[in-house]
Amino acid sequence: MIYFLYKETGCEIILNNQINIDKIEYSRSTTNTENIGENLAKKLISNPALPKFIALYGDLGVGKTAFVRGFTRAVAPHSKVKSPTFALVREYEGENNFVFHFDMYRIADEDELYSIGFYDYFQRHGFIVVEWSENIQFALPSTYIMVKITKTEKEDERLIEIKLLNREEQNKNENISS
Ligand SMILES: Nc1ncnc2c1ncn2[C@@H]1O[C@H](COP(=O)(O)OP(=O)(O)OP(=O)(O)O)[C@@H](O)[C@H]1O
Ligand SMILES: [Mg+2]
Repeated sequence: MIYFLYKETGCEIILNNQINIDKIEYSRSTTNTENIGENLAKKLISNPALPKFIALYGDLGVGKTAFVRGFTRAVAPHSKVKSPTFALVREYEGENNFVFHFDMYRIADEDELYSIGFYDYFQRHGFIVVEWSENIQFALPSTYIMVKITKTEKEDERLIEIKLLNREEQNKNENISS
């Protein structure tokens, strides 16, 4: 309903004095996905009350890193974003902020999360962006932004769903981690 209103008016919808960032849109290219990521970062930068934790979901090669590349462009424009698959985390520093980019594809257990200092990043001033959040559902904060990317039947087309989730809604969305 809100989404249709958004499409109709083309303007921001403000609910309870908070910018609504929930959105479902199609991406038709890598650049398109990068731009959607960049737009989300811009909104979060200009609305500091919104969560700084972005949990990405989606299959292998769907475009999560492309999304993060665009997101990071808004925070740390000179960074070269590469998949942190082996490093598990990469840090990108901008003028006023950081992006901590995690890839949890290979995470074994919670001990490994501690050993890479995952929870320490929550105390730092920066955005935490996590690929393969499916694998660390238990470690997510009480409020975060879910970004779910899925392939459609058309080549190069993706459906990108962005939603602010709190604990209650997370329970309803539990099936996304299965
Ligand atoms: N609409 C699109 N959005 C994003 N990537 C696209 C799109 N169409 C095609 N691609 C291609 O899909 C691939 C996405 O790669 P990317 O590394 O971003 O995926 P990923 O989800 O991070 O993969 P992984 O699970 O291995 O980390 C790239 O080769 C990109 O060019
Ligand atoms: Mg990736």
